[in-house]
Amino acid sequence: MTGSQPTPDAWRNVILCGDALQQLQRLPECIVDTVVTSPPYYQQRDYTSDLQLGHEATPAEYVQRLVKILAECRRVLRDAGSLWLVLGDKYVRGQQLGLPWRVALALIDDGWILRSDIIWHKPNAMPSAVRTRPTTDHEYVFFLTKSKQYYYDADAIREPHVTFTAQSRMRGGRRHFFQRDGTPENGKNRGSSNLHAGRWDQAFHPKGRNKRTVWSIPLSKFREAHFAVYPEQLVVNCLQAGCPPRGIVLDPFLGSGTTAVVARRLERDYIGIDCVPDYCRMATERLQRVPH
Ligand SMILES: C[S@@+](CC[C@H](N)C(=O)[O-])C[C@H]1O[C@@H](n2cnc3c(N)ncnc32)[C@H](O)[C@@H]1O
Repeated sequence: MTGSQPTPDAWRNVILCGDALQQLQRLPECIVDTVVTSPPYYQQRDYTSDLQLGHEATPAEYVQRLVKILAECRRVLRDAGSLWLVLGDKYVRGQQLGLPWRVALALIDDGWILRSDIIWHKPNAMPSAVRTRPTTDHEYVFFLTKSKQYYYDADAIREPHVTFTAQSRMRGGRRHFFQRDGTPENGKNRGSSNLHAGRWDQAFHPKGRNKRTVWSIPLSKFREAHFAVYPEQLVVNCLQAGCPPRGIVLDPFLGSGTTAVVARRLERDYIGIDCVPDYCRMATERLQRVPH
């Protein structure tokens, strides 16, 4: 896949406790297949550590520090590797800061290739008291790669096709598919110059349609942690598409260990980093409960 050396076993399934940047600097280059992570959001929570990211004086300083940590992630990624970065925004006195996109653009400037901005829609997001704007019920997942050639298993995360119902009022609807050689070209819209001559009855991929960029996934129910734990399904999507079986996923902001737990379930290995010893312990205990 990349021509890089196999990852030494010493770096498989370890949790490193300390500052992300410093711990990443200990790792050899080109050993990780994908990074899946949700860093602390700007001025959102206090993780009670002097090392913590997120309490910089300005958004620009936050972006700069995060980009530096992620550059170290890029060094340890294999050439075909990728980064799935989960980020939410922040309001200060009614002003939306646009932080996810500030980070994404800074990452492009730093040499990453942005492949997709995915909306993580949270159908069970907390209600809010705001009356002057819509209630936010989404975050971003940015999918970025190190190189032009990269690992992406589209088949692993296909979703069901949405077909027209028989009652569909859409012109040139489903009835075409039940007729021999049925195509929109032979249907109501016959003669329209907008129709191409493809075989519409064979247009559907047997494994489902390609994954879309809006992922509706409820918030996690894991309650031991006092901070935002992301849902396992979110990590499942990223790992199935971004990490080959027995590959390695890195999470430099491991928290309660969700990324590592999903990695073990999907028969991938992990490297986790967190600066709070209690969270490293929590992740270790959570992992002991995962059968493998
Ligand atoms: C949003 S939480 C991650 C939650 C995680 N995705 C989960 O599902 O449990 C961010 C984590 O980053 C850690 N953190 C903050 N600053 C850090 C730093 N400089 N180095 C390493 N970890 C850091 C925090 O302790 C916290 O556990």
